[in-house]
Amino acid sequence: LSDPTEESKRLSAYKAVDENFPDTPKVIGIGSGSTVIYVAERIGQLDNKRDFICIPTGFQSKNLILDNGLLLGSIEQYPELDITFDGADEIDSNLNAIKGGGACLFQEKLVAYSSKKFVLVADHRKKSSDLGKKWIKGIPIEVVPSAYVYVENKLKEYGAETITLRQGGSAKAGPIITDNNNFLIDAHFGIVSNPRELHLKLKNTLGIVETGIFTDHAKRAYFGEKDGSVTFRT
Ligand code: A5P
Repeated sequence: LSDPTEESKRLSAYKAVDENFPDTPKVIGIGSGSTVIYVAERIGQLDNKRDFICIPTGFQSKNLILDNGLLLGSIEQYPELDITFDGADEIDSNLNAIKGGGACLFQEKLVAYSSKKFVLVADHRKKSSDLGKKWIKGIPIEVVPSAYVYVENKLKEYGAETITLRQGGSAKAGPIITDNNNFLIDAHFGIVSNPRELHLKLKNTLGIVETGIFTDHAKRAYFGEKDGSVTFRT
């Protein structure tokens, strides 16, 4: 690939699949975002690609599964997954991650937490020492629409430095609507010293459905580096 960042995404995704794909796969989770495109591509190159079911984490992910000739299933039919591969917006040295830049955090978490193994794939820009250091757009927080003002006020109380109701951009006048018909707030808390604690505090707030803080779950993260190598954290 001519774009070096794209190439680093591809390399991390290919290596993650090559090193972690089960010998006898049954149910595989496919995440969302621009890096996972290469995960689906790699899995689509397998000879046994019609022997297992793939579970998506959102609309884009569903299309990736179908476009690569893989078998699509739902999390309700297949609630136990062997492994899930997904991207991230930032990954710290303890494999905690911020996710949800693509607005699919709820499904992503459901699929990840239903999997025996969860593997992250990313380019070098996502490799961080602490959450909130590199990803300054804020932690994606999925919110029940009618509660968004209440939640925004709570986030101020909790010390959020910036709070943004995510907009649809040129494609939509008004807030983004998630796959679950909710709103998304991005709230930046500076460097997050204790991701689990912050997640739990947010989750305890009326109107917050889920946060993009993923803790205690990833087994391994692969990073495509600038020099074309792939490093990993466990
Ligand atoms: C989607 O909601 C996200 O969690 C993505 O997995 C994350 O934003 C990473 O996306 P990229 O691979 O496009 O950076």
